[in-house]
Amino acid sequence: MTARVALVGAGGHGLSHRRKLRELAGRGLLEIAALCDRNPVEPEPGVPFFDDHETMLRAVRPDAVIVCTPPHTHLPIALDCLAAGADLLLEKPPVVSVAEHAELEAAVRRTGRRVQVGFQALGSAALAAFRQAAPDGPLVSAAGAWWRPDSYYRRAPWAGKQAAFDGALVNPFAHALMQALAVAGRFAPVSLELERYKTRDIQTDDCTFMRLTGSDGRRLVAAVTLASEVFVAGEIRVGDALLEYPTDRVRLPGERFREVPGRVGLLENLLSGAELIAPLDRTRTFTAVAEAIVAAPAPAPLPGLRPHPDGTGKVVPGIDQLVRQVAATGLLPSESDIAWAVGPHRVLFETEEGGIHAQAEHR
Ligand SMILES: NC(=O)c1ccc[n+]([C@@H]2O[C@H](COP(=O)([O-])OP(=O)(O)OC[C@H]3O[C@@H](n4cnc5c(N)ncnc54)[C@H](O)[C@@H]3O)[C@@H](O)[C@H]2O)c1
Repeated sequence: MTARVALVGAGGHGLSHRRKLRELAGRGLLEIAALCDRNPVEPEPGVPFFDDHETMLRAVRPDAVIVCTPPHTHLPIALDCLAAGADLLLEKPPVVSVAEHAELEAAVRRTGRRVQVGFQALGSAALAAFRQAAPDGPLVSAAGAWWRPDSYYRRAPWAGKQAAFDGALVNPFAHALMQALAVAGRFAPVSLELERYKTRDIQTDDCTFMRLTGSDGRRLVAAVTLASEVFVAGEIRVGDALLEYPTDRVRLPGERFREVPGRVGLLENLLSGAELIAPLDRTRTFTAVAEAIVAAPAPAPLPGLRPHPDGTGKVVPGIDQLVRQVAATGLLPSESDIAWAVGPHRVLFETEEGGIHAQAEHR
């Protein structure tokens, strides 16, 4: 039987899900059951539209639902979809706290439904090749340097808002953190050291530097910025091995970069009944770390900014080099003689059966 799939949150990034739905419907792999959005969206010919997900679930009873609304709205919609008997493709970040994660995991167990989280890079052949071939090492790192103009923070009411779970590593670079955790494999963080900075008038950070220390002594470091004039796509590193996760390119020690093409689509995987690529429980540590980042003290404003050449915001000169340096050394800016750096915020984690919790925090 052809699966009937609905989309909740059909504007914004939902447009890319609509393209995928059309493609798969065209191949006879699914039927687009409904679109749902609080706001009017471009209609999909022959597909019913609802402005409320509960009405949609009652009227359409879809087999699966893609939830692509802002992060802080995910949990109630996801719970309603599961209760209505639908499987879920839930956009990342899946939920905004460890408590919400546990509540959703309990609903998954209770209903027996499947929940896939929108970490599409986990389905890449490049990640699989990298995990197989990269040497083990005491440091796994993620680095990325992008540019987002001021208009990025006006695109949606929740952009740049602490309560809405935004922030460079928590949202745009969420894939970098998740890929690094996937590469680290069995990695239980016991502590987090965090430096958050901002270049503009937002509640969240747009430059994040973070070091996790695992129970086995390994470290996982992430250094990302949205205020760079020079582009660094997104690099996961173990020793000299490098995975450029947005482009699916891999460079192993002594080799040149090579593309490892191919991604298993998250929706296709969800509908196939095969083992999930990004099941909810695989994202538990991501959620714990992201929650700790969002709960940290407000980010420090950065001095010494320069206007971006296109005049739509400010950049931090040389920050592309800094993110790579932090990733390579594992040393945070405050440990690297950077004049503007402030000492890290620290969080301890406690891992227990089926859960991870931030235990204590101090400056
Ligand atoms: N996987 C990825 O690479 C990727 C990329 C971008 C965004 N995302 C994720 O997708 C989600 C949506 O992000 P976005 O940038 O599209 O946000 P957005 O605010 O631009 O769009 C969200 C859409 O959801 C609608 N909406 C909000 N609340 C709703 C509700 N209760 N019921 C129905 N519709 C509702 C809004 O009207 C809007 O059309 C977020 O979780 C984001 O992190 C994932």
